[in-house]
Amino acid sequence: PNQSSVAVVPAQAPAAVQAKAKDITVLFASQTGTAQGLAKKYGEQLKELGFEVNVSSMSDFKTNNLKKLDHLLVIASTHGEGEPPDNAISFYNFLQGKRAPKLDHVNYSVLSLGDSSYEFFCQTGKDFDAQLEKLGANRIVDRVDCDLDFDEQATAWFESVKGKLQEGAVEQTLSEKEAASTVLAIPATEYSRNNPFHAEVLEKINLNGEGSNKETIHLELSLEESGLTYEPGDSLAILPTNNENLVNSLIQALSFDANKSVTVGENVVSLQEALTNVLDITTLSKPVLEKISEFTANNELQELLQNRDELKQYIYGRDLLDVVEKFGPFTWDEQSFVTTLRKLPSRQYSISSSQAAYPEEVHVTIGAVRYEVDGRQRLGVCSTEIADRIEVGDKVRVYVQQSPNFKLPSDETPIIMIGPGTGIAPFRSFIQEREERGAQGKSWLFFGDQHFVTDFLYQTEWQRWLKDGVLTKLNVAFSRDQEEKVYVQHKIEQHAQEVYEWLQQGAVVYVCGDKDHMAKDVHETLINVIAKQGNKSKEEAEEYLTELKAQKRYQRDVY
Ligand code: 2AM
Repeated sequence: PNQSSVAVVPAQAPAAVQAKAKDITVLFASQTGTAQGLAKKYGEQLKELGFEVNVSSMSDFKTNNLKKLDHLLVIASTHGEGEPPDNAISFYNFLQGKRAPKLDHVNYSVLSLGDSSYEFFCQTGKDFDAQLEKLGANRIVDRVDCDLDFDEQATAWFESVKGKLQEGAVEQTLSEKEAASTVLAIPATEYSRNNPFHAEVLEKINLNGEGSNKETIHLELSLEESGLTYEPGDSLAILPTNNENLVNSLIQALSFDANKSVTVGENVVSLQEALTNVLDITTLSKPVLEKISEFTANNELQELLQNRDELKQYIYGRDLLDVVEKFGPFTWDEQSFVTTLRKLPSRQYSISSSQAAYPEEVHVTIGAVRYEVDGRQRLGVCSTEIADRIEVGDKVRVYVQQSPNFKLPSDETPIIMIGPGTGIAPFRSFIQEREERGAQGKSWLFFGDQHFVTDFLYQTEWQRWLKDGVLTKLNVAFSRDQEEKVYVQHKIEQHAQEVYEWLQQGAVVYVCGDKDHMAKDVHETLINVIAKQGNKSKEEAEEYLTELKAQKRYQRDVY
């Protein structure tokens, strides 16, 4: 077992420290589970301090209870182009709407999570903060907006919040304080970005046949002795390392010394090590470019930073090496250079196995990302590390990210699963799970990819499940096997009547995969199907779908 994950618990843990029992509600707006994870962690820590704590998804929070709120902590991530995550939409709209009550009695603080490479960075958190203030609530700690490398800032926010909440609480003795903070150090076997589990690779298979344009890796990892658990719909976060060739090219372009020691966070490492294992050298963001611009007199970068659309276009698909080559000369040295960069984020992949079927394993399905910009080949950091440099027997650093939004319903509920390409992953997990449980609910899979012969991911498994009746219906769309494109939404349209019947019977619809094209088109198609089959106007059909979402019967995991 991983030694560093074992908490040091004093022999005599103090009875819950007698704080004045303030009621604290922690609400999370979470799409991929990061905000949910933090909410649960902080909730536990506050409970241990003796507070009454209720941690809840925004979608489960009854707005009637706003009247009774005392202290409210909002942990909100932002989705897509500044939109709230699915589990937050109803609550978000309620607070913005006319029926929102006065909240003068509420003390609150907001932690927002986001990705600064997006324009509307942390927008959902900002909106909640502004709206709560507008409704009269009292901000006890200023909002903190975190980037992908959220750990330090999030911890700092929580420490301030804790400090505020403890004000006025009954004095603790020093030893109690010490004991309490020791207990809270790290919950046993809780793996995270700072403490990942080192999982051995048991199997690695390219699912695509020879001649395919795609390379989709099926990876099986051992969870033996980790104690890690997951549910269908959860994701596996993998900590990648940067490609050695890219690191070397970058160091060369900078004319730096690879062995020079630099300080990153609390650690002193070589520049080579920092750029390989710790820092993000591939994704560009406005804040990073702003920091970089302080080290160059080249006003092209300044100009780029002034122009929103050009900046967006430039950032897309480019990396730090492009910036170093284009906007020099720079005045930095090794140390000041590394301080401009953010930490290398983990990558999340939908888990494609069920733990009921594989108790000691976790499987993921990873599409290798390779593309060319300005005549140089670009490699997806994690996906090509797995595809090109990880072999059976190697260890991969991982942790489980629980999903707030993507969950199997009861065993009897019919499910419609729409997952072209790697979007298939969670549905393999769903059906494995249902097979193990002997679930009786109907299930229907829509899968699509380029070619039947090379790209039908997990083909033999689906066919067996179909034969055994674990999967009720299967429709496939191979887009490039004929003249005109055929996509999953065309198959949905062809079966409109039956799809609508399933919806009327209470089916849950799942969409997983490409966000910008597929998920949008599938959404439109569902509206058309509902309108036509249900004799509804477009608006009524949209409402029907919104209502499904609110009932958690339209769940999306799109990227
Ligand atoms: P294409 O590459 O031939 O356009 C998985 O990648 C599958 O999704 C491929 O068959 C791909 O087809 C298809 N695809 C591309 N755009 C799509 C869209 N807007 N809606 C649905 N599927 C799409």
